Amino acid sequence: MRRYELYEAAVQDAPSEAALLDRIYREANGRPARRLREDFCGTFWLGYEWVRRHKENRALGTDLDFDALADGFRRHASSSGLQGSTRTSLYCGDVRTSPKLATDIVFAGNFSYFVFKERSQLLEYFRNARESLAPSGLLILDHFGGADIHEASTELSRRDSDRFGRFEMSWRQSAFDEFTASSRFTLKARPRNEKRWTTLGVYDWRLWSIPEIKDALAECGFTRVSVYWQKDNGHFARREKSEANCLKWLAYIVAARN
Ligand SMILES: C[S@@+](CC[C@H](N)C(=O)[O-])C[C@H]1O[C@@H](n2cnc3c(N)ncnc32)[C@H](O)[C@@H]1O
Repeated sequence: MRRYELYEAAVQDAPSEAALLDRIYREANGRPARRLREDFCGTFWLGYEWVRRHKENRALGTDLDFDALADGFRRHASSSGLQGSTRTSLYCGDVRTSPKLATDIVFAGNFSYFVFKERSQLLEYFRNARESLAPSGLLILDHFGGADIHEASTELSRRDSDRFGRFEMSWRQSAFDEFTASSRFTLKARPRNEKRWTTLGVYDWRLWSIPEIKDALAECGFTRVSVYWQKDNGHFARREKSEANCLKWLAYIVAARN
């Protein structure tokens, strides 16, 4: 479906993300990761990209949206010769019941675990993820925050893609609810020469803080938690302290199973 392809062009960069996961794992363990479980995988572009990187790489993708999994399979599995391959597998279901396969990395991207608004749901997810990791495995979660998240806002931007050319994007956040720490986000895109915007996603998310996530991870048995913070040049590096007075920041939280 065109909507999923447009979504990928708008907010994903699977080759860069696969390289980053690989680097984070090497920095923690001194060797490459081979088995990835991508949760909330959508079209599973990252999973197919992961497997393409090395002949021993394997990936499992989990998502509730059957149409997204099917669309990704149709476009990515065939283009990378992975149709019929046993190196990728898909599970259509809730990430809290995703198969436990002793993977090197469990990854949740584009802030998808913010969908869990109750702490009990978050703990259930983190427990499943930890039980799915090999002894030196890592759970990697992306995260955003900053003073700006407490206000309603609309960000307009442009992006280029081979498939859609230059297109406009809109990322709208509704008023922040202080009682639930939640906001509703709407992602839309409009390719050049089109009058109408296409809605790519609507997300009702709890904006968890890093300490809240760290506490929940510790309660589920994760031993070490580190944070990779985005630098001015766009790259991510491990940091012990946040920068002061950030209006908006991006980071990856990395939790070690043992
Ligand atoms: C923000 S999209 C992320 C897609 C992709 N991972 C990315 O990085 O852009 C969130 C995805 O999570 C899926 N989802 C939401 N709740 C879920 C759950 N409890 N279990 C599995 N998938 C879920 C949705 O179907 C959707 O595909």
